[in-house]
Amino acid sequence: MTQLLSHFQAVYGRPATLLARAPGRVNLIGEHTDYNDGYVLPAAIERETCIAAAPRPDGIVRLVARDLDRETTFDLAHVAPAADPQATWSNYVRGVAAGLLAAGYRLRGLDAVIQGNVPVGSGLSSSAALEMASVQAFAAAGEFTVPPDQAARIGQKAEHDFVGANTGLMDQLASALGQPDRVLLIDCRDLSYRPVPTPAGATILIADTAVRRQLASSAYNERRSQCEAAAAAMGVRALRDANLEMLARVDVPDVVRRRAQHVIEENDRVLATVAALQAGDLTQVGRLMNASHASLRDLYEVSSAELDAMAELLRSQPGCYGARLTGAGFGGCCVALVDAPAVDAAIAAVSAAYSAQTGLTPALYPTRAAQGARVELL
Ligand code: GLA
Repeated sequence: MTQLLSHFQAVYGRPATLLARAPGRVNLIGEHTDYNDGYVLPAAIERETCIAAAPRPDGIVRLVARDLDRETTFDLAHVAPAADPQATWSNYVRGVAAGLLAAGYRLRGLDAVIQGNVPVGSGLSSSAALEMASVQAFAAAGEFTVPPDQAARIGQKAEHDFVGANTGLMDQLASALGQPDRVLLIDCRDLSYRPVPTPAGATILIADTAVRRQLASSAYNERRSQCEAAAAAMGVRALRDANLEMLARVDVPDVVRRRAQHVIEENDRVLATVAALQAGDLTQVGRLMNASHASLRDLYEVSSAELDAMAELLRSQPGCYGARLTGAGFGGCCVALVDAPAVDAAIAAVSAAYSAQTGLTPALYPTRAAQGARVELL
């Protein structure tokens, strides 16, 4: 952090006056349910995006992306998707500025330096982290506050309008609302949520396959349309309102049926996971995680050979309760729940075996559930 602040001083010749930060997220279970008004169970992770900033007297936003060694500028009076295709990273910030302005907030221009350690394109929501940190930075500079659910919606709209991915709200909500040592049971219909303690003695292990998501937006948007088609065929507002009996009664293409079956069963798995966590039954939590992966692989078809290999290797470790892909899929990370004393050995064994099997160098790191977005005035 001191490095970020001294970098700000070096770039702008004055000190930063605020430091906004927002974490990435990992989803324990409940995948592709959020845009079906369903349930999710994510946690904020110990990796975050930080923005050191100071307000400007004009409406200019100057952004320096320290990790990318790039910079770009935009004017709050003309917020548009990055004209410079090299600065697409700034679309998340532009989109947030546009959303805040549309919601009636009065924004001030900013000088800012962005830095983070959420790996990009690995399914840990580096984009939501940047969006939620941007909300915090604009809010602190403009001396207003934004309720977390509104912040999440503004981040989501930035993805839709400026990035072209019709994502749900899970990532932004997890980044905005995260609590230490808690996963969040979020009802994506009314956005109510309940913090659920992470199990004592077990560790959330993230395993990055080192394969970046590919063609994710088009395949994601296609899944979303298939879910909407299934809901329409059953005459319900969203798949949240459907069950397997209703699905059996309608005439829909097989692929649409499989997508809907995944979502209906995944919603049940989320609630069952919460019950198992509360009962301290980690074996059952692990089973549900494994079933979620199988469903994402076979019914929702968003897994990959590497994600399947990683999940298998994780599960074969002593002390591992279960493992599944986390996030949208198509590459990225798995999440596993592992007995705390067994974590180091599991990391070593899985890293070696995955490299031998795929020729890729994975990244495995344990995380605790972490605090959500916040800002500090300096
Ligand atoms: C991405 C999206 C989320 C959610 C997941 C899948 O992370 O941003 O809204 O749909 O995929 O669960």
